[in-house]
Amino acid sequence: MRLNGERIIVRDLELTDVDDYFLYCGSQNVGPMAGWKPIKDYETAKRVIAGQVLQKDVFAIVLKSESKMIGTLSLYNYGIRKYRYVKQLGFSMNEEYWNNGYMTEAVKLVINYVFTNTDCEVLEVGHHSDNYKSKRVIEKCGFIYDGRFCKYKKLYDGRVVDADFYSMTKDDFERMKKYE
Ligand SMILES: CC(C)(COP(=O)(O)OP(=O)(O)OC[C@H]1O[C@@H](n2cnc3c(N)ncnc32)[C@H](O)[C@@H]1OP(=O)(O)O)[C@@H](O)C(=O)NCCC(=O)NCCS
Repeated sequence: MRLNGERIIVRDLELTDVDDYFLYCGSQNVGPMAGWKPIKDYETAKRVIAGQVLQKDVFAIVLKSESKMIGTLSLYNYGIRKYRYVKQLGFSMNEEYWNNGYMTEAVKLVINYVFTNTDCEVLEVGHHSDNYKSKRVIEKCGFIYDGRFCKYKKLYDGRVVDADFYSMTKDDFERMKKYE
C-alpha cells in the first residue's frame, strides 16, 4: 500500500524504518497512551518492526518534507463487532510532530483507501477514555461515537482503563463524502 497525501505518505512498513521508530518508541508519552509498553532497547524495536512487517498490518507514516518515518498506523483484522469484514484502526506518532494535523491526514487517507479499495464493512477505532488527543483525531475524521467500554483492558503496568469506541460503516463513509 502507498497512499500519497499533501504532506505525508502512508506506505508499507519496512525493516529500515527501525531507526526512526527507535526515536520515539521509548517515550512514556507515546506507547502507554496506545496501550503498549515503551520500548527502550534497539534489539526489541527491531524485533517489533520485523514482526509487523511480516504481519503486513502496520503502515509507516512518512513526512514528505523530511523523508522521515514519524509514526505508524495499524489496520488489524478484528474488531469488537461481529461482521464478515471489520478492521480496527490504531495509531501513534513521534511526539516531536504532534499537533500539526499529520495523524488526521494519515487517518483520512486510510479511511478513503479502506472503503474504496477493500470490501471492509466497518472500520472501528477506540481510545483510552482519558486520551483526548486521540479522541480529537477520531472526531476530526468523522467517526461516529458508539459508547464506552468500562474496564476495557488491563495494561502491562496493571492499570485498568475504560475505552471509548467509534465506528464508520461504508454507508457512513459514502454519506460523509457527499457532504465534504
Ligand atoms: C494521538 C496522536 C496520534 C495525535 O497525533 P497528531 O498528529 O498530533 O494529531 P493531529 O495534529 O491530527 O490532531 C490532534 C488534535 O488534538 C488536539 N489536542 C492536543 N492536545 C489535546 C488535549 N490535551 N486535549 C484535547 N485536545 C488536544 C489538538 O489541538 C488537535 O486538534 P485540533 O486540530 O482541533 O486543534 C499523538 O498524540 C500520539 O501519537 N499520541 C500517543 C499515542 C496515542 O495516543 N495513540 C492513539 C491510541 S488510540
